[in-house]
Amino acid sequence: MMNMNPIGVFDSGVGGLSVLREIQALMPSENIIYFGDQGHVPYGPRPMEQIQDFSEGITRYLLAQHAKIIVVACNTASAAALTYLRQTFPDVQFVGMEPAVKPAVEKTQTGKVGVLATPATFQGALYVSVVERFANGVELFQDTCSGLVQQIETGNLNGDETRKILEDALYPMMEKNIDTVVLGCTHYPFVIPLIEKIVGEKVRVIDPAPAVAKQVKRLLEAGGMMNQDKQDGKIRFITSGKADSVRSIIKVLLGVTGDVEAFTWKNDREIQ
Ligand code: DGL
Repeated sequence: MMNMNPIGVFDSGVGGLSVLREIQALMPSENIIYFGDQGHVPYGPRPMEQIQDFSEGITRYLLAQHAKIIVVACNTASAAALTYLRQTFPDVQFVGMEPAVKPAVEKTQTGKVGVLATPATFQGALYVSVVERFANGVELFQDTCSGLVQQIETGNLNGDETRKILEDALYPMMEKNIDTVVLGCTHYPFVIPLIEKIVGEKVRVIDPAPAVAKQVKRLLEAGGMMNQDKQDGKIRFITSGKADSVRSIIKVLLGVTGDVEAFTWKNDREIQ
């Protein structure tokens, strides 16, 4: 029975769908329950404690829906809350995100790498530790792409505002001769086509989502928890925002029409 239970995936909004699509491509039979916290998006400018409360509330909710593993498909929530979640739920397996500095450092030729992520991700201890462990003398240039998460939440993947935010972030990095850009926020893979237009062919863009999906698969296999069913798995979308708008943005981002259930927060830690 456990094997048919869903993989729980959450994010502050639609960003985690960039991870969900990789999980689905790798393990099409798995059932998935996706929680987008549109009621609180963006997480990036919020205090760490608040993001911990939200992450705990969502985790409790996903566990109540029998999630067999929890994917924190949000760099910001991973930076702010992953350690806390592992302490609070010691029996639960979590997979989190961390900025893909390691593969970028392995690949760069110029020794200069750009990292795009939210303010909370850059402030967290996780980023500091990733840089300490993996930067290895490579120079990193950070930008928070202020406002980009909100543009992607409204489905603006190619408009003037989105382009301006990305150009303001990337042109100064290109002047520094970066040859690799790390997407340290799960919303950003949805603007890869635009990023590639701006940076051109010589700059490599790294999306960590496929590696995260592989890690989920490894853990499920190791625990004997893969769904053996041959049929395609079901996906349930939950939002703490407006179901209608989330339904239409899912169509834009994933090209599927999914049913979306809306729930409201009772307080910062409990979902009704
Ligand atoms: N998708 C998030 C991340 O990976 C979210 C950003 C936000 O809500 O600010 O960091």
